[in-house]
Amino acid sequence: SLAPVLTVDGPSASGKGTVAERVAAALGFHFLDSGALYRLTALMAMKRGVALDDEARVAELAAQLPASFGGGAVRLDGEDVSDAIRAEAVGEGASKVAALPAVRAALLDRQRAYREAPGLVADGRDMGTVVFADAVAKVFLTASAEARAERRYKQLIEKGMSASLPALVADMQARDARDSARAVAPLKPAADALVLDTTDMDVVAAVDAVLAHYRDKS
Ligand code: C5P
Repeated sequence: SLAPVLTVDGPSASGKGTVAERVAAALGFHFLDSGALYRLTALMAMKRGVALDDEARVAELAAQLPASFGGGAVRLDGEDVSDAIRAEAVGEGASKVAALPAVRAALLDRQRAYREAPGLVADGRDMGTVVFADAVAKVFLTASAEARAERRYKQLIEKGMSASLPALVADMQARDARDSARAVAPLKPAADALVLDTTDMDVVAAVDAVLAHYRDKS
């Protein structure tokens, strides 16, 4: 039988990455950062000079994606790109390639392969609606655009990257609009998801709420 899945979806910088990773650790589950696959696809296209709207060629790259996630580093063609994939330009590119149906289709099996015993916590936009629609528990994490821009700003500064808060708010709104409006797998809570607004919640409180929801459902 298939291992249990807990999905954590939500808009960019809603804190879902941090929360999902900690929940996975607490449960002793595997962890899938599906956004990293879209970021890697975008970075690969940028590096190879493939236009981000060339659906057939970008989908080919997504299908190959010579990436690995080991020892806390994300590698592409053997090169450590852990920081490079977090750049705003790559996030923007990820959002563009993620709107292409052939790219989403090319990444589907790769995402589902993460479902292994004893279980999986999957973080993304469409984990609960498409990729793991049969998940035992689903959470949709949100926060106000201002709170999310501030979180992303802090992350970037901590990484020693430069950032502008107003530019981040604008980027975030553009990305949310694109992710929500796209025809395929748009950003929206699954009908059976717990919607959790973390604007005034710290990470520990959010982790506890997600764990409580999972225990409730399993
Ligand atoms: O979560 P993260 O910000 O790393 O995701 C980058 C982009 O990848 C998102 O803006 C979204 O367009 C896309 N994405 C997606 N489906 C997922 C995960 C990410 O479309 N499951």
